[in-house]
Amino acid sequence: MKIRHVSSAVGSRGDAVFVLSPDGRVDAGKPLEAPLRAAKATGDLKTSFRAVAVFHQPKGSSIKRLGVVGLGKTAEVTTEKLRRVSALAQNRAASHEVKAFSLLVPAALTRKCGPLQAGMAVAEGLVLGAYQYQPPRKDKPKAAHAAQASVAAVGLDKRAEGEFARGLKLGAIAAEGAVFARDLENQPANILTPTTMAQAARRLAGGRLTVKVLDEKAMERLKMGSLLGVSRGSKQPAKLIVFEYKTPGAKGNVAVIGKGLTFDSGGISIKPSARMDEMRYDMCGGGAVMGLFHALKNGALGTHKPKKNVIGIIAAVENMPDADAQRPGDVVTAMDGQTIEVLNTDAEGRLVLADAICYAKKFYKPEMMCDLATLTGAVVVALGHEMAGIMGNDQKLIDALVDAGEEADEPLWQLPLWQCHKDQMKSKFADLQNINSPSHGNGSTAGGAFLSYFAGDTPWAHLDIAGAAYGCLPKDYYKSGASGTAVRTLVRWLRTL
Ligand code: BES
Ligand code: MN
Ligand code: ZN
Repeated sequence: MKIRHVSSAVGSRGDAVFVLSPDGRVDAGKPLEAPLRAAKATGDLKTSFRAVAVFHQPKGSSIKRLGVVGLGKTAEVTTEKLRRVSALAQNRAASHEVKAFSLLVPAALTRKCGPLQAGMAVAEGLVLGAYQYQPPRKDKPKAAHAAQASVAAVGLDKRAEGEFARGLKLGAIAAEGAVFARDLENQPANILTPTTMAQAARRLAGGRLTVKVLDEKAMERLKMGSLLGVSRGSKQPAKLIVFEYKTPGAKGNVAVIGKGLTFDSGGISIKPSARMDEMRYDMCGGGAVMGLFHALKNGALGTHKPKKNVIGIIAAVENMPDADAQRPGDVVTAMDGQTIEVLNTDAEGRLVLADAICYAKKFYKPEMMCDLATLTGAVVVALGHEMAGIMGNDQKLIDALVDAGEEADEPLWQLPLWQCHKDQMKSKFADLQNINSPSHGNGSTAGGAFLSYFAGDTPWAHLDIAGAAYGCLPKDYYKSGASGTAVRTLVRWLRTL
C-alpha cells in the first residue's frame, strides 16, 4: 500500500473518494458538494462510527464511487477511531476492487488528536488494514487490497497540514514495520526457523543498520548455557540475531531484546496437542524487534535524533523434545555465571532471554533495555488479548513505555515485581529455578522476577505480549493471526529518547 499526501486535490486520483464524516457532517470542499448533496438525498448516508456507504457516481463524473465513512461525534474522536475508519475505507475500496483511492480527512478530526498523531493513525489504519497474510497456495489469489491511497486533510492551515503530512509518512513507516513483523509471525514453524529468521534479519542490513548473527559455536564460546540448553532438543540450530542501528553523535546504547521461539512444543515438559500449532507465534517478541528495525531503517524516527544507538537482540531458538533434549531438573549455567535449575522445560522463553540480556549487557552496556516476549499463558488469563503486561526495575522507563503504548493504542498494563516474587525463584539445586511453585499462583510475575536477576542494575522493562501478539479481537486494521504488536509502540518510545 502506497500513501501520498495531497492538498485536497479532491477526486483527481483514483477510482473512489472516501470522506470521513464526523457529527453527521460531510465536508469535503467544493468539488464534492453536489455528489454529497445527492448522496444525502438518498437517505442512505449514515455517519455513526464505522457506518460506511458507497455511492456509485453517474457516468461522466470524475470519480466512479463516493464513500462516506462515519466517525461519530468529533468530541469523541480518538486516534484509534481514526485508525479504524481509515482501515475501513481501505477494506471497502478493496472489496470494490478499487486499486487507487482518495481519503479526505476533515480538519476537525485532526484538531482533536493533533495533526501529527492524526496523520500517523490514518496511515497506520491504511497500511495495517491492507495487510493480508498470503498462505502458500497452489493457485495464487490476486491482491485483495488497494495499492494506493491519496490522503488529504481538508481545511487545515499550512503548518498543521505539514504536520499531518509528516504524520502520514511516519505512520506508514511504523505500520510497514508492523506488517513486516506480522508476515514473519504468521509463517509456519517449518518455514520460519531460527535460520530463515536470521536470513530475513540479514536482508535488512544496510545504511546505518548492521546485522550480525551468532551461531551455536559462537554462543558456546560465550558460555550461553541457558539458551543452548533450550536448543539442544532441536535439529534447528539456534541463532542470536544482533542489530545495531547507529545514530550519528550517539552517546551510549539502548537495547531491545526479543524472544524468538520459532516453535515451542514445551520440550520434555511437552504441551498438550490442542492448539500447539499456535506456538508458531512464540517468536512474536523477536518479530516485534524485526519490525522495529525494519521501521528504523526506513526512517521511522524522522528528523528526531536520539543520542543513543539502538541495539536489537533476538534469541531465535526452537524448543523440541528429543533424546538429547534437556530434562526437567537439569542445571545450566548462563553467560554471566548464574546457575539455573530447569524445573520445567516449557518455561524456556526466560532461559533464552537470560543469555540474550547477558549478551546485551556485556557487549553494549545499555543505558536501558526492554525485552518483549510471549512469555506466559498466565498473562492472557490476567489481561486478555487487548493489552500486554509490563513490569521491570525502573519506573521511569516503564512509564515511558506505557505512554508510548497509549499513543500507539497498544495498551500496556503494569504488573508488580516485588521482592516476594524474586524470592520465589531461588533454587535448592542452583542459584535460580526457572519456575516458581504452582502453589504460588503468579505465573507472569514469576517470569519477570526470573529475568530481573539477569537485568541486575540496568534499567529494564519486560513486556509480556503473549495475549497481544495474536488472537486479538478483530478491529478493521487487524483481522486474525499475528497482530504485529509493539512495533508501533517501540517506534514512539524511541522518538522520546
Ligand atoms: N510460549 C509459552 C507461553 C504462551 C502460552 C504464549 C500461551 C502464548 C500463549 C511459554 O513458553 C510457556 O510455555 N510458558 C509456560 C510457563 C510455565 C511452564 C511456568 C506457561 O505459560 O504455561
Ligand atoms: Mn514454553
Ligand atoms: Zn514459549
